[in-house]
Amino acid sequence: MPIITVSGTALRFESAPGDTVLQAALRAGLPWPYECSVGACGTCRFTIEAGEARVLRENPPGLSAMDRRKNRKLACQCVAETDLSVSAKIGVDGACVPIAPRRMSAVLSGARAVTHDMTEYRFRTAQAARFLPGQYALLALPGMNEARAYSMSNVANEQGDWIFVIRNVPNGLGSRALAALEAGATIALDGPYGGAWLRTDVPREIVCIAGGSGLAPMLSIARAAAATERRLHFYYGARTAADACGRAFVAELDGFGARVRCVEAISVHDHADAAWQGETGLIHDVVARDLAGAFDAYEFYVSGPPPMIAAVLNLLAVERGVPTAQIHFDRFF
Ligand code: FES
Repeated sequence: MPIITVSGTALRFESAPGDTVLQAALRAGLPWPYECSVGACGTCRFTIEAGEARVLRENPPGLSAMDRRKNRKLACQCVAETDLSVSAKIGVDGACVPIAPRRMSAVLSGARAVTHDMTEYRFRTAQAARFLPGQYALLALPGMNEARAYSMSNVANEQGDWIFVIRNVPNGLGSRALAALEAGATIALDGPYGGAWLRTDVPREIVCIAGGSGLAPMLSIARAAAATERRLHFYYGARTAADACGRAFVAELDGFGARVRCVEAISVHDHADAAWQGETGLIHDVVARDLAGAFDAYEFYVSGPPPMIAAVLNLLAVERGVPTAQIHFDRFF
């Protein structure tokens, strides 16, 4: 197996067949910076000083024109073909990957519609499901060249259950491949990944802000948090009343109505939604007017489409002065 050496450090690790440089590093427990694992965010940039690597995706959105001029690569899109010497900014503060990802076979054990375009899929692995609340897994689906990143909505468990709430995207290859799976179908599941996990050592009240298909990781965090004595404020933004499904999940949690509260909002309100009794407007505006007190007293977790993430970050970090260390999210686009 190829050996990857990080120049200027004593770090060396093996790359198993088919693993990207990022996967190899994480499996070795090294805290290689990353967010999306799929070539979109650019966080895993590095350069190859010696050796050969195969690039999975030409021109990934995570590389800028300047990155290309400087011959930078994405660790999540490169597979070592020989030993490599690489230059990368890997944390030197002793941090390590909390749970090293591993590749497993997963069997589809069930699926149910959550809304007209959201489906909950349940997979089971022979191994225990080990992940932190808010993390994601890479699913290799039939007919697709690249694995898709989907966040778990449940919490770690010994039975090996991995549950996902996934939006059926029109013409989306991933959601279409998932919808075509029959119960009992086996896929490859690789995980866990992601850095926006629930910080259990922080005593601040928790705020989860989810939009659309970003519901799953926030549910995972809410489920874990509800099992403690922490106060939880859960915000879910949907487009229409027919899309609003967050409250039904949160209402099942211990402490709901007391230390666990949910505010659900729809951004498009028309005659069809006449019976809607929740909030209306974009979810960052709802948070701005609903959340009490100084915002830096909270720990924030955010998941959703890029415009929503950008609007929430602007509200939290720019307008309300929340330290970035108190805002957790993974960029997927
Ligand atoms: Fe590699 Fe996002 S581009 S982790």
